[in-house]
Amino acid sequence: MNILIKNGTIVTSTKSIKADIFVKNGKIDQIEKGLITNKSADKIINADGYYIFPGGIDPHVHMHLPTPAGYSSDDFFSGSRAALYGGTTTLLDFVTPRKGQPLREALEQRKREALLSLVDYSFHVSPVEWRDTMAEEIKSCVVEEGIGSFKVYMAYKETIGLNDENLFKVMTAVGKAGGIVMAHCELGDEIEKIRDSFAGENKIEPKYHPLSRPPNLESEAVKKAIKLAKATNCPLYVVHVSTKESLLHISEAQKRGQKVYAETCPQYLLLNDSMYEGSFRQASPYVMSPPLRKSDDNEALWDGIIDGTIQTIGTDHCPFMLEQKMAGTGDFRKIPNGAGGIEHRLALLYSYGVLKNRISINRFVDIISTKPAKIFGLYPSKGEIAIGSDADLVIWNPEKENTISAKSHHQNCDTNIYEGFKTTGAPEYVMVNGMIALEEGKLITTPITGKFLKTC
Ligand code: URP
Ligand code: ZN
Repeated sequence: MNILIKNGTIVTSTKSIKADIFVKNGKIDQIEKGLITNKSADKIINADGYYIFPGGIDPHVHMHLPTPAGYSSDDFFSGSRAALYGGTTTLLDFVTPRKGQPLREALEQRKREALLSLVDYSFHVSPVEWRDTMAEEIKSCVVEEGIGSFKVYMAYKETIGLNDENLFKVMTAVGKAGGIVMAHCELGDEIEKIRDSFAGENKIEPKYHPLSRPPNLESEAVKKAIKLAKATNCPLYVVHVSTKESLLHISEAQKRGQKVYAETCPQYLLLNDSMYEGSFRQASPYVMSPPLRKSDDNEALWDGIIDGTIQTIGTDHCPFMLEQKMAGTGDFRKIPNGAGGIEHRLALLYSYGVLKNRISINRFVDIISTKPAKIFGLYPSKGEIAIGSDADLVIWNPEKENTISAKSHHQNCDTNIYEGFKTTGAPEYVMVNGMIALEEGKLITTPITGKFLKTC
């Protein structure tokens, strides 16, 4: 399908220009002012009054994540559908092998699950242990599979977390293979001790979740990850940064010239730990790791976006139904960790970032699309509006208002952590590889299929 988009304002990470776009065979074919209504266009979209952004790239989501309380409630179909409603056209999920399972076998299994996705996707692969073959397996993910990013967990030591010695080995192997390590930075052993001691004192309500994961156990883990990454010459991407102190360590390392990237999430910018007050039903949807912090941290994170310490915003999309959260009614340690947000990332950042004059519209595009594309090897096919790039485009109505609610969202979840948040700005059209997926704010019925992307 060839599509002509007329009269819109194209916004990239570096400029805003009024020009028309001709999309041909899934790619951006021409960008010019006053493109003639071309007889080879199957469809003409009038984007007058609208912005055109490169499709959103969410670098951090967990579809169909297995937990003791069941799978996270969005699978690749429902989660990618919600992504489209919000203007996200590429998602980066995770491969978390079973202990003993070869990385590439786990990757193949995850690829099969992701066949349901409506948007393009790739994965970060997690070495959850060290074994003799691990360095070779990592290299083979890079060379044979085109996977360039590897996620390590410093928390969750009893299941998928790595001790310092194994962290060092993984970083060494990833650095040598030319990849990047993403790190979930929380000191797991210390957290486990606090959690167990709360439980021993019958302190079992959700409000003990944030108290058992204090900010210093995140920032100390960040400091350690930076040190190990430096020693092993491995690029580092710190996921879901939530505290002011973590940012200080990251900013120091960046100033020294170390390759350290930082991601935060809308929840750490817009919500705080007061959400843990109240009943189990009210508080448990906010149980996630790291937990929500203080308003001071929210502001420091906005500053980190403004001054460039933070490069990307992911959602850590990982919703659970209230029924699943109820697994922890008698023990906060059993509440499945995570919340949904893939649908709201662009609207929240546009409303509370751009419209509140915290960031420019070009910086907005940079953090929701261009930087994730560059860091994870997708640029310039993704994350850019340029001739030859994939026609993943969001035609954004800057006037459209919404009040976020679990009653009207498209995420497969009966709660929403942004319930009642008002947003201005929403996608009117969303295109994936030149196919229209969303038209006048509604998903069109013709199914589209996402494809696996190599990230190196
Ligand atoms: O609470 C969270 N973030 N759940 C998802 C899994 C993880 O830790 O990233
Ligand atoms: Zn996560």
